[in-house]
Amino acid sequence: LCAFVAPSQAQTYPTRGITMIVPFAAGGPTDVISRIVTAHMAQTLGQSIVIENVVGAGGTTATARAARAANDGYTLITGHMGTHAASVPLYPKLAYHPEKDFEPIALLAGTPILILARKDFPPKDLKEFVTYVKANAEKVNAAHAGVGSVSHVSCELLHAILDIKPVGVPFNGTGPAMNALVAGQVDYMCDQIVNAVPQINAGTIKAYAIATAERNPSLPNVPTTTEAGLPAFQAQAWNAMFAPKGTSPAIVASLNAAAVKALEDETVRKRLLELGSVIPGPKDRTPEALATLVKNEIAKWTPVLKPAS
Ligand code: MLT
Repeated sequence: LCAFVAPSQAQTYPTRGITMIVPFAAGGPTDVISRIVTAHMAQTLGQSIVIENVVGAGGTTATARAARAANDGYTLITGHMGTHAASVPLYPKLAYHPEKDFEPIALLAGTPILILARKDFPPKDLKEFVTYVKANAEKVNAAHAGVGSVSHVSCELLHAILDIKPVGVPFNGTGPAMNALVAGQVDYMCDQIVNAVPQINAGTIKAYAIATAERNPSLPNVPTTTEAGLPAFQAQAWNAMFAPKGTSPAIVASLNAAAVKALEDETVRKRLLELGSVIPGPKDRTPEALATLVKNEIAKWTPVLKPAS
């Protein structure tokens, strides 16, 4: 008879449902990307993955909670360029450190940034937008998803280039911010493409430009910032999956494999591409590549961003 060997935790993982914390409201880019990828991962892992939207403080409230969660593979978080990089210089008392408190799992998507406005905002194109917001900097407002969110940091960059300081209107995510933009309650927003494609295509908002070197196939008629006359404004964010520090390497490997499988699935890819995301290539999908991205992004944003007052 063979000796009985008890299966390790990693061999049996997961034996119950997993919670994926999304640090912003439902319907925004982080939520949408998480739902697309985790729906496929749940099939691979044979367990449900329940999205929990935990909002506040530009995503840092939820990220602090994820950092303190049990490191057993059952609580994960989708973080992004804001929660896992820009928050470091912006929040001197940040209750977590993106590198020290998390195990990177996998990069899920790159997300180009667009300059968007309510449908009846007067400027017709980006050149007019620049002239208009400079002339009316005290009257216009920019919606965002809280200090340190991608939408906040991206418009901070835009405002620094234009040398203006318009009023910011914070929301719990750019899902609700987009609803306010569609309703004409706020003037403009610098948002990740995922949120914008359906609204631009429905004609409910205006898109002045996409802040990347090339146009995006999902929005072929939206010019790049270079084409539209503002080449200095270049911005692309990213969304990625993390587990609390100390999660076992076997669990991280199992989650990474499930995420990679999702990113290779034709239906998942089609959905992400329809929404304008950039799907990471094979060498960018490893936990090590994500660790390097986080390190580099913190180094990039730290000298650029000042603590929020
Ligand atoms: C952001 O601006 O950081 C995001 O758009 C947040 C979100 O997913 O709503």
